[in-house]
Amino acid sequence: MSDADDFRLDGKAALITGGARGIGAECARVLAAAGADVMLTDLPGPTGPATAESIAGGRAAYRDLDVTREQDWIAAIDATISTFGRLDILVNNAGIEIMGEIADVSQDEFRRIMAINVEGVYLGCKQAVRAMRPRGRSAGGGSIINISSVAGMVGVPWLSAYSASKGAVRTLTKGVAVECGRLGYGIRCNSVHPGVVATEMAESFFRKNQALAGAESLEQIATVFTQAHPIGRMGVPRDIANAVRFLASDAAAWITGAELAVDGGWTAT
Ligand SMILES: NC(=O)c1ccc[n+]([C@@H]2O[C@H](COP(=O)([O-])OP(=O)(O)OC[C@H]3O[C@@H](n4cnc5c(N)ncnc54)[C@H](O)[C@@H]3O)[C@@H](O)[C@H]2O)c1
Repeated sequence: MSDADDFRLDGKAALITGGARGIGAECARVLAAAGADVMLTDLPGPTGPATAESIAGGRAAYRDLDVTREQDWIAAIDATISTFGRLDILVNNAGIEIMGEIADVSQDEFRRIMAINVEGVYLGCKQAVRAMRPRGRSAGGGSIINISSVAGMVGVPWLSAYSASKGAVRTLTKGVAVECGRLGYGIRCNSVHPGVVATEMAESFFRKNQALAGAESLEQIATVFTQAHPIGRMGVPRDIANAVRFLASDAAAWITGAELAVDGGWTAT
């Protein structure tokens, strides 16, 4: 086997949350193109099944999974193992954003973002580790990739609640990584920290920024955030999906507990 084959995902099966659109959908396309079987999941709706059907390369299937519901997790992991025979990769991608001055964020909003962005990732790690560990249903070890954000590493105005959730994902990841390593489970766990990536979430982020900053145009806001990335452009979903593919692969066999900034240099400044 050549070294380059370490980057392929043939024979591996992945479960991706929030996979109907945006970064999750691109992760599904890239992982499938690398040879993986992919169980795409999202909240109920027509987009998820359509995205799964459009995926070429490996085999793809779709299943509803609300990341805040533990029963959904158990059923989706069972479905992955019964469809593909195994679970090797979990991409905890589903997430929401709530924007506002901390003085204005309601307790309900704070709890909601923590329920989806943090509890959802905790439930995913819990159920994936149960399936992937040596005495589990899949039992082959594996790679868990948690999508955090630059906002999980540095402060961003009007994103305190989101930052709290993404910072929790960052350290939850490290805890899972160290524990699984020490227990000899063969499970790696890493976090990916995107800068601003062109998706529906980013569009809404720009609109809310415009309103909160009182900016004249969306273009003004887009310029500010382009300049936040020293590399001179915002991200595209492929930038994140390629990093996820790497962390999912055997090429990253010695990487666990790491936080990978995929942010055009934002957090290096
Ligand atoms: N786009 C960015 O600029 C950016 C930057 C940093 C981090 N991120 C993170 O990347 C991830 C994907 O973001 P995106 O830009 O593709 O967002 P998006 O809003 O385009 O897609 C998010 C997906 O998550 C799903 N989702 C929401 N709540 C869910 C729940 N309870 N259960 C299951 N699925 C649920 C949505 O239905 C949607 O399909 C998120 O975790 C986000 O916080 C995005």
